[in-house]
Amino acid sequence: MATVIAIANQKGGVGKTTTAVNLAAAFARKKKRTLLIDLDPQANTTLTFFSLEEVSQSIYDVLADHQVKMADIVKPTKCPNLCVVPSKIALAKLEATLVGQFDAPYRLKDALAPVRDHFDIILMDNPPALGLITVNSLVAATHLLVPIQAAYYAMEGCDDLLETLERIRARPNPELQLLGVVITLFDKRTNLARDIHKQVCQVFGAKVFKTVIGKNVRLEESPAYKETVFTYAPDSSGAEDYEHLAREVLQRV
Ligand SMILES: Nc1ncnc2c1ncn2[C@@H]1O[C@H](COP(=O)(O)OP(=O)(O)OP(=O)(O)O)[C@@H](O)[C@H]1O
Ligand SMILES: [Mg+2]
Repeated sequence: MATVIAIANQKGGVGKTTTAVNLAAAFARKKKRTLLIDLDPQANTTLTFFSLEEVSQSIYDVLADHQVKMADIVKPTKCPNLCVVPSKIALAKLEATLVGQFDAPYRLKDALAPVRDHFDIILMDNPPALGLITVNSLVAATHLLVPIQAAYYAMEGCDDLLETLERIRARPNPELQLLGVVITLFDKRTNLARDIHKQVCQVFGAKVFKTVIGKNVRLEESPAYKETVFTYAPDSSGAEDYEHLAREVLQRV
């Protein structure tokens, strides 16, 4: 059965999507059968691989309607071993669609069950919120990976995320584990970044990955060319950082 990793932090712009896309690509390069599920209505992950015209049905259709199966919307990418489940802006109305449905938090877990055996690793990119979408993701996950940006107020909101983790672990998903915390957008030239790194290590201890994702302009550019960093700039520090993170993640799962 696949390892299922939710990448989440309700703070916006901390590197969730960049981490989801490039970690997935790094696993695929290691010959792991990898599925990347876009759970953000902004669809940034989806747009790294496809144009909007290439996406007809999305994860919204699977979660909102029992007739649409996950297998119907899994799309192979041009990267060997990497498939993507696309998102669309329609996903923003999921909460309204599922209001009052007793199985609302379990929709993703149930939908994923028939395809879990087809993959070694499933990664889920979440929106910057702790609503029904992130709850579905944590109910379906075996592990939670939290990117934290090395910036002022880095850990703001972390308490709420950890409280959500505990709540989900208490009832719907006792198997859910905190896989780790990865520091992103790290600028080693600034004292602030180093201070934040120290603070995060004080709070999360051994859960902090040794790999730190440095600021690297190639990571920012690659989605615009519909590439992951490994095809866009294979010799960049961004590619190296995500390769190291992938190795560390595989040691932990
Ligand atoms: N290590 C990095 N170096 C340089 N730029 C980065 C790095 N990581 C992310 N970025 C850029 O920072 C911005 C935010 O990153 P990203 O979209 O991955 O964050 P996010 O947490 O998914 O945001 P949101 O909460 O809106 O979904 C993007 O423009 C991205 O290209
Ligand atoms: Mg994102």
